[in-house]
Amino acid sequence: MNQLPDPWSFAFSSPTRIVFGDGTLSRASAAIPFDGPLLIVTGKSSALRSGHLDRLLAALHPRKTAVFSGISPNPRVHEVLLAAEIGRQINASAVIGLGGGSALDAAKATAAALAGANLSQLLLTDSPAPATTLPIIAIPTTAGTGSETSQAAILTDESSALKQGLRGPALTPHTAIVDPELTISLPDNIAAETGFDVFTHALESWVSSRASALTAFYSEFAIRTVLSQLPLLLNDRANPAPRRAMSLASLLMGWNLANASTCLPHRLQYPVGQRTDSSHPGGLAALYPAWMRRAAPLAPTPFSCIASLLGASSHLDAPDAVASWMHSIGMARHLHQFGLSSTDIPALTAAVRGNLATDPCDHSPDALAAIYSESL
Ligand SMILES: [Fe+2]
Repeated sequence: MNQLPDPWSFAFSSPTRIVFGDGTLSRASAAIPFDGPLLIVTGKSSALRSGHLDRLLAALHPRKTAVFSGISPNPRVHEVLLAAEIGRQINASAVIGLGGGSALDAAKATAAALAGANLSQLLLTDSPAPATTLPIIAIPTTAGTGSETSQAAILTDESSALKQGLRGPALTPHTAIVDPELTISLPDNIAAETGFDVFTHALESWVSSRASALTAFYSEFAIRTVLSQLPLLLNDRANPAPRRAMSLASLLMGWNLANASTCLPHRLQYPVGQRTDSSHPGGLAALYPAWMRRAAPLAPTPFSCIASLLGASSHLDAPDAVASWMHSIGMARHLHQFGLSSTDIPALTAAVRGNLATDPCDHSPDALAAIYSESL
């Protein structure tokens, strides 16, 4: 019988320098210790519409900058290669990601591409991004993905039809400028989705076989924060306290992603997102009830914590309590809402990649297919 990992024996890495606080975007220049030209990678519209990009450019003036604003919600390799081309033209010294997880992930991949990485090849292997990857500055405009402190970038490669993670210590941002004021302009549905993503990172990194005493401590804080603060944030976006708390929980969970990883829902969501272009938290929400029913009996500590916070009687009742809470914040989803049906399950199951062994649940192909089937 395998020895269970000891949560009190661990290594933990959190190399990102955090610059946190309302208004930090306006002081971005002082927080970026690189002299040369800066490439800004952002999404197609929201950073422009919200004025965040203009504020960043004003903060960086008169430094030499170039902007690539062509990143999709599920970023593509070809978009990253276009961004890298602009980075080469200006001889960028660092890459700034401004936006949600997609923009931050695309900035990381751009920094790797500028170091000569072949992204399509890297996505097919477990090889880490090159150590010569350019420094990355993460400026999140949502509170959710944890990409601002994690060492992963999720990309879709159209040539291989794969949605997969690019990983490695070199992808960990050098600096994260976390300005909770930037999340004021988020639409309600995005605030709910990204907040739910924080919850999933907290729960899965706690259930994970790679959880340590330290990541479990952060998970418990993040779960308490999301359950108590996200409803307040959705109720009143002008209230600074829940905004700050959610931004803090998001970056803590980036550390947990890097140090304890996630479980089956994150592995199962990638094929859903790749096939349907549905959002990452939306896919997770559809998969969560079926996964939680399997995980709760095997992970009594995290699910007991959730049960007590939601007023359920035991860890076995926590999945139903979480499902009700998801409904209350508008996060109840089913895979059929993304156009999927039972005929898609074999292809979805075959497309699942990554380390499944962090999850205590059965992860045989039949078990994965059963989770997809129950999530329809
Ligand atoms: Fe996630």
